[in-house]
Amino acid sequence: MSSVVAIDGPACSGKGTLARKIAEHFQFIYLDTGMLYRIIAYLNKPLEELCNLSVFDVIKFSQKFNNNVLRSEENGIRASNLAKDPQIRELMLKMQRDFVNYHSKEFCVLDGRDIGTVVFPDAFCKLFITADLETRAKRRFQDLKKVNEHIKYNDIFADIKRRDEQDIKRDIAPLHYDNSYHLIDTTKQSIEEALGCCISVISSLL
Ligand code: C5P
Repeated sequence: MSSVVAIDGPACSGKGTLARKIAEHFQFIYLDTGMLYRIIAYLNKPLEELCNLSVFDVIKFSQKFNNNVLRSEENGIRASNLAKDPQIRELMLKMQRDFVNYHSKEFCVLDGRDIGTVVFPDAFCKLFITADLETRAKRRFQDLKKVNEHIKYNDIFADIKRRDEQDIKRDIAPLHYDNSYHLIDTTKQSIEEALGCCISVISSLL
């Protein structure tokens, strides 16, 4: 069993915020795997060049680039398109495992779409964080409105819906829930309530 907390779930379910807070609470190492896909999508380099990068090189790019651009829905769709490519997924798989091997003496929290199914199927704890589509779109809209006042709710709703469909229906490593996961539905929960549920699940397995 690997010392990984695997967190999967659809776009804007709150899994990133929860993963970060879980890592802080337990003093675990955190890796946002969606950000790796977002950086690779933004870099737009040929596969041969990407293969020369280590996971730590890719993480370094996140400090160089504008966070709002990386986190935009536009770049999210780009990342989701790229994430269908088997060679990219193979490369990402290696990077994510390299990251955990490097931190082999510590516990790690990774959030994404395929962490508990493909990257670390033997994770000691698997959480599936979800919320209904409307709730996720509203949360995302509130966040993006702070940096772009022209943003439209209907566009955000459509982008998230499209990204969910792509991530669930793709052939390789689709987003998939099964009963090896603890299901956390944040539709009617505050982040603090959801965090409390996650902490008690993890504590019961440590
Ligand atoms: O989590 P985030 O929304 O930042 O991820 C951006 C995109 O990267 C997702 O829509 C998904 O297509 C892809 N992704 C993935 N597998 C992961 C993490 C992200 O396919 N483990």
